[in-house]
Amino acid sequence: MEVIIVGSAAEAGRIGADAIQALYDRKPEAVLGIATGSSPLAVYDELGRRVRDGKVSLKEAQAFMLDEYVGLRADHPERYRNVIQRVFVDQVDINPANVHGPDGLAEDLAAACEDYERAIADAGGVDLQLLGIGTDGHIAFNEPGSSLASRTRIKTLTAQTREDNARFFDDDVELVPRHCLTQGIATIMSARHLVLLASGRSKAEAVHQMAEGPISAMWPATALQLHPHVTVLVDHGAASRLQ
Ligand code: F6R
Repeated sequence: MEVIIVGSAAEAGRIGADAIQALYDRKPEAVLGIATGSSPLAVYDELGRRVRDGKVSLKEAQAFMLDEYVGLRADHPERYRNVIQRVFVDQVDINPANVHGPDGLAEDLAAACEDYERAIADAGGVDLQLLGIGTDGHIAFNEPGSSLASRTRIKTLTAQTREDNARFFDDDVELVPRHCLTQGIATIMSARHLVLLASGRSKAEAVHQMAEGPISAMWPATALQLHPHVTVLVDHGAASRLQ
């Protein structure tokens, strides 16, 4: 695991975009794993600038989202597919039809999870997966206690994560969905390169556990210690508990 301490979100954005640009330079049809949340926004912004400047193209790319809320109506602004449309798809030149997410509105949610795993495999697997980390150490929506061998499935959000995400739902925790579909930890670990971003002191304990704690389902991100190619981009706040 390579940990890089950055001075600003813009610097993290540049380093993340460098990795993605290098990938598309050598493999134009590469599969990108995309995350929602605040952490990857600087990467999407920088990537958007580079696409507009003609330095990189995602025209042939495929992208797979990490997770989706269950039951948010198709046009709900916080539905992750809609969030990703605004923060990522609209900024780059990817074909929107090549952007995939788990179907949180499927009648048969279990079948939707299986379909999603198959779609990732059929695309050849994820080449570079962007990740954030929750204050409780979750990755995607794999909350503490999630199996380290898990694949895409339905999960119940913890009270902590619902509180953390209430800021996107008029600060009303009751409006935050209770369930989600999420790639499992083993799904994420199958990606060839993981790039995790974290900023601020609220992430310091989770980052410390991820990099220096014992591997445990109680801190799901500790599974990344077993991955051969992980890049962690953290600011001074998020790095403040690293030894
Ligand atoms: C988002 C996701 C979550 C976030 C995490 C951190 O698709 O899967 O695991 O990455 O909750 O969120 P932010 O980046 O908003 O701090």
